[in-house]
Amino acid sequence: MPVSQRRVLIVTFSFSGQTRALVQALAAGLAEAGVQVVVERLQPLAPLRFPLAGIAPTLVMMLATFFRQRLAIAPLSSPAAGDFQLVVVAGPTWSYSPSGPVLSFLDRDAPALVHDRPVLPVISCRGYWRTHLAYLRRRLAACGGRVVNFLVLTHPCAEPWRTLGVFLKIAGRRPERHPLLSRFYPRYGHSRSQIEEVRGLGRCVGEALVHGEDLAALRLGVRPHPPAGNAQ
Ligand SMILES: Cc1cc2nc3c(=O)[nH]c(=O)nc-3n(C[C@H](O)[C@H](O)[C@H](O)COP(=O)(O)O)c2cc1C
Repeated sequence: MPVSQRRVLIVTFSFSGQTRALVQALAAGLAEAGVQVVVERLQPLAPLRFPLAGIAPTLVMMLATFFRQRLAIAPLSSPAAGDFQLVVVAGPTWSYSPSGPVLSFLDRDAPALVHDRPVLPVISCRGYWRTHLAYLRRRLAACGGRVVNFLVLTHPCAEPWRTLGVFLKIAGRRPERHPLLSRFYPRYGHSRSQIEEVRGLGRCVGEALVHGEDLAALRLGVRPHPPAGNAQ
């Protein structure tokens, strides 16, 4: 028998717009299932503009993020303190780890927000997500959260073009318009069909919540499924 209206909190950060598109689709799917969605966007205190101003700042960012540098964030808005049946933590992979703003969220806010609640990590990355997910699982569990499932979206493009393309894109270049590179790297980020797929998955998650079903039983996981040897 259906239960009373379910509420989902989505805590999210996006640097180059990919997670933002995934979260919009996920939220739309959840809403289609009758779930109320609150989106909490983590706001870095220091402005962070995409793309960066060239190769050197990109290398510096890669190095800093490799050491899991935190980026301070503004206080969360008060609606985030409400009652939720699921907390989604969505963001990009930065050097095999969560992004700086999500790390700050884990340090400061996650203990109060996820304690004793089901949590669904959502990761946007070019393809290397395993260390990120393992770290998130560990940190969320340490806060008392129950990681019930996960959703990972990788960029649907072959290596080495994917890594080269992402690096150049972050550095402010346009690899998808380069006369030679564009043949192997037609676009940055997730495809429209992936975004559409996430909307459908959001609907599935929403329906499971509405009907009190086990979220762990849903087939979420990695999209598209990584070819052997291509996922770190
Ligand atoms: C500093 C930095 C480091 C990154 N490191 C990784 C990485 O280790 N593995 C990976 O798969 N993608 C990595 N990426 C790519 C992003 O995860 C990917 O482009 C993601 O889709 C961006 O999401 P966003 O637009 O929501 O920020 C990195 C991006 C940045 C900016």
